Amino acid sequence: MSVVAVIGAGAMGSGIAQVAAVAGERVLLHDAQPGAADKAVEQIGARLDRLVEKQRMTAEAAATARVRLGAVASPAEMADADLVVEAIVESLPAKQALLADLETCCRDDTVLATNTSTLSVTDIARGLRAPGRVCGMHFFNPAPLMRLVEVPVGETTDPAVAAHVEAWATAWGKTPVRCASTPGFIVNRVARPFYGEAQRIVEEGGADVATVDASMRAVGFRMGPFELADLIGNDVNLASATSVWEQTGRDPRYEPTESQRRLVADGRLGRKSGHGWYDYPDSSAPAPSENPHEPQTNRGVADRIVAMLVNEAAALADRGEAAPRDIDTAMRLGTNYPFGPLEHGDAWGPAAVLDVLARLHERAPTGRYRPADRLVRTATEGGSLRD
Ligand code: NAI
Repeated sequence: MSVVAVIGAGAMGSGIAQVAAVAGERVLLHDAQPGAADKAVEQIGARLDRLVEKQRMTAEAAATARVRLGAVASPAEMADADLVVEAIVESLPAKQALLADLETCCRDDTVLATNTSTLSVTDIARGLRAPGRVCGMHFFNPAPLMRLVEVPVGETTDPAVAAHVEAWATAWGKTPVRCASTPGFIVNRVARPFYGEAQRIVEEGGADVATVDASMRAVGFRMGPFELADLIGNDVNLASATSVWEQTGRDPRYEPTESQRRLVADGRLGRKSGHGWYDYPDSSAPAPSENPHEPQTNRGVADRIVAMLVNEAAALADRGEAAPRDIDTAMRLGTNYPFGPLEHGDAWGPAAVLDVLARLHERAPTGRYRPADRLVRTATEGGSLRD
């Protein structure tokens, strides 16, 4: 049993605390907001009760997990922690200040993990006495349900520390995937064209929103890009897109679309505001995917988006930011895609993917559709995108 401290008792921190306690760790939960950690401990208890009711957990296991979990009033009470996972507000100065504080109150060998989704692990660790012990540990929402944990490794992260983080994730029933700490890590980077390309197709008049969604469902995706963006929130989605675009020096591949910016400026945030790409007249309105009258589908639409996903995954592998098979695992588990993009590119045929991109590039030679070296190489010389 390790002692695991979780800092930030919001949506992610409370989920991570639950995962660790259920897996048998002693968990200390802290939040800067007075009373927030106690409240989160109560909520976790209620969630465990529901799991017992649904017979997904025994009453004994829930009771033991509860005993292992406690709220603490300050980081000073975390002196004995083997691992600290911070899940506080997504702000670089706030995370740097917290880690500097932890350096003074934790043991020298305590691993400091960050659940950041957009910040650089290298930047978060900068200025610490021992930046080697800082590593990413990026859970997906909701943490108790989602199996994937990305382990982004900063430039100064000690590889042994990353291996420890992976071992913890595995012991907690998760599937860790190591990657470089580059913009969007794996999932939020490779998934960009799922939304961006779909929006461009609609902006160009190639298809309407419902047709694009139906076309993506027809090739196996559980939800289309527009209904999923409405569920996540268009503001959250735009922030993610903008962050990757800015951090890649405004690479045209990631430029947020005009239609998405307009939607957010107009307050059409998705389901939570009642309007987004679709209108939701009341909160019980069915998702477009539940519509029994499927709109028309268009295979060419779907091919364009999927080709971009394959290319994005191939480019990430080319840069050496993650192993090809790990990229596929991350996309299947982190986004529920029906296939890993590289595996799919192999099955479709790299030459066919390249052909879709070449036609798009001819129409819009901005660099957005430039093919990854790996794609060009396998299309011309043969071999697998996953080697
Ligand atoms: P949240 O807003 O629900 O919770 C953040 C909590 O941190 C709040 O309770 C706040 O009082 C507390 N806090 C803020 N500053 C603090 C400090 N200095 N010390 C202690 N507690 C502090 O945020 P959420 O959504 O849980 O996100 C937390 C982190 O997880 C962020 O870095 C976010 O980018 C990341 N993340 C979020 C995901 C999501 O879907 N919401 C998914 C994966 C990562």
